[in-house]
Amino acid sequence: MKRPITELINARYSCRTYRAEPIAPEEQRELTEFLTMHTVGPFGSQARFALVAASPGDRQALKRLGTYGFIKGATGFLVGAVRRAPRDLEDYGHLLEHAILFATGLGLGTCWLGGTFTKSSFAARMGGLERDEIMPAVVSIGYIGDDGTQRIREREAGSRRLPASSLFFAERFGEPLDIGSAGGYATVLEGVRMAPSATNKQPWRIVRRNGDWHFYLQRTKGYGKGSAIFSVLRLADLQRVDLGIAMCHFELVAREMGLAGEWVLDKPDIGTLGPAVEYTATWRVAPPTSSATR
Ligand SMILES: Cc1cc2nc3c(=O)[nH]c(=O)nc-3n(C[C@H](O)[C@H](O)[C@H](O)COP(=O)(O)O)c2cc1C
Repeated sequence: MKRPITELINARYSCRTYRAEPIAPEEQRELTEFLTMHTVGPFGSQARFALVAASPGDRQALKRLGTYGFIKGATGFLVGAVRRAPRDLEDYGHLLEHAILFATGLGLGTCWLGGTFTKSSFAARMGGLERDEIMPAVVSIGYIGDDGTQRIREREAGSRRLPASSLFFAERFGEPLDIGSAGGYATVLEGVRMAPSATNKQPWRIVRRNGDWHFYLQRTKGYGKGSAIFSVLRLADLQRVDLGIAMCHFELVAREMGLAGEWVLDKPDIGTLGPAVEYTATWRVAPPTSSATR
C-alpha cells in the first residue's frame, strides 16, 4: 500500500466521472502485479482478476438499476471471477476491495458495479468464465474527473453512514458497544463504517464478545436474496460481497495497527439475532506475544 490504510479508506469514494486520459503504463503494471498476487480470499476461495481497458460497448453493458448513477468516461475496469465455494462472495469482496484500496493509493478513482451489467461482455475480456466460476461484480477505474465532488464526498462521507451504535455491539445484538473502551479497535471499526456497500445499505453488524469480533450480515428487507428483482435479474448476493469488503477494511486497519488476529468460523451463541441476520465469520484476536525474558 502506498499510504497508511486509514488514509486510503478516507480518500476512497465511488467515483463515477473519470478523465479521458488512460491509466499510465507504470500504474497499470503495479496494479496488474497486485491483482496477480492476491487471488485467494480469507476463506480460501480461488479468484482471478484483470485490469482491462474500457471499450465502446461498455455503456450498454452497464445497465441502469434503480437510482444507481451512470459511469462516465471510465478508462478501465477491474474484472474478476471466483470459483464457487461456500464463502465465495465474501472472498471476492475482500480481494477486490483490497485492490481498490491499492488503486486509491495510486491516485485512481474506482466504483464497485454490481447492479445489472452484461456479465458476458466483461467475462469475455478475461477469456470467459470457467463452468464453476462466477463474476459477482466489476469495478470501474480511471483518473478522477470530478475533483469538486470528491472533496464534498470526503467531507460528507461520515454523515452518509449509520452511527457506530447501530452497527457495533457488545456481547449481544442491540447492545451498543462503548467505542471509547474499544482502544485501537475504535479506529478499526471506523474503517469498517467507511466501507462501501451496495446502495449504501451498510449491512454489516459486529458483536464483540470475549475479545473476539463476530461479523454478521443484517439483510435489507426486499433487497438481495429472496427479493423478486434479485431472482429475476439473477444478481449476485451483493450483501455478502459487502461483508467481504467490511472484513477487508477491518483486517487491513487491524494489521496496520499491530492488532494481530485471524479469521475463523466459530459461530457464538449470543441469543436472538433477529429475523434477517446471518453469521459470517469471526476475527479471533491473537493472544499477546510474551515479552522477552531478561
Ligand atoms: C457490491 C457493491 C456494488 C455496487 N454497485 C454499484 C452500481 O452498480 N452502480 C453504482 O453507481 N454504484 C454501485 N456501488 C457503489 C455504492 O453505491 C457506494 O459504495 C455507496 O453508496 C457508498 O458510497 P461511497 O462508495 O462513495 O462511500 C456498489 C457498491 C458495492 C459495495
